[in-house]
Amino acid sequence: MPDIRLGFAMCGSFCTFDRALAAMKECRSLGYDILPILSPAARTTDTRFGRAADWILQIEAICGKPPICDLVGAEPIGPKHMTDILLVAPCTGNTLGKLANGITDNAVTLAVKSHLRGRRPVVLAVSTNDALSGSAKNIGTLLNTRNYYFVPMGQDDPIAKPTSLVADFHQIPQTLAQALEGKQIQPLLFEKK
Ligand SMILES: Cc1cc2nc3c(=O)[nH]c(=O)nc-3n(C[C@H](O)[C@H](O)[C@H](O)COP(=O)(O)O)c2cc1C
Repeated sequence: MPDIRLGFAMCGSFCTFDRALAAMKECRSLGYDILPILSPAARTTDTRFGRAADWILQIEAICGKPPICDLVGAEPIGPKHMTDILLVAPCTGNTLGKLANGITDNAVTLAVKSHLRGRRPVVLAVSTNDALSGSAKNIGTLLNTRNYYFVPMGQDDPIAKPTSLVADFHQIPQTLAQALEGKQIQPLLFEKK
């Protein structure tokens, strides 16, 4: 995908950061010019999955540029046409709620709003334990909102976490390619293998 500018926004689903970075590398190797964007939680939180500073070093190494982490950095994304397509991977329950309700109080949510000004595609890779409970209505709203597309998702542990859904990060490149053509990749839902 030479010459395609991909906004790659990451939210605080820390257990999927390794999968998100593998997808970021894959997108880079496909030729996307990647603009990384981090939510405040993603930028600042050290967890058992890794230190924030270490994740940022890896992101900078893959993308060749520092991530946008604040409102001032995110605001020009639409007006300056800095992104052709915007991926949120991982997308938390918190960010789904904000996007579905027009809340734009951080770098990721403002990046989406700014990018959507140009009616270009936004792709969400959901990862949240309440996808089939508290976040279900927000997913429903976004499924029914123009210019939003979803990375195929499934129940990661139907017995222990019956309301959890996680996107298949391996399908990010195909989902982006189809979203660029205005299509939602199918099947949208998959069964746990
Ligand atoms: C270790 C850890 C793992 C988390 N994993 C998830 C997750 O997979 N999905 C989710 O929706 N929230 C998860 N959270 C909670 C979010 O980080 C939290 O709701 C945060 O406010 C999200 O902000 P953001 O959407 O702006 O990144 C996790 C938090 C921690 C500390």
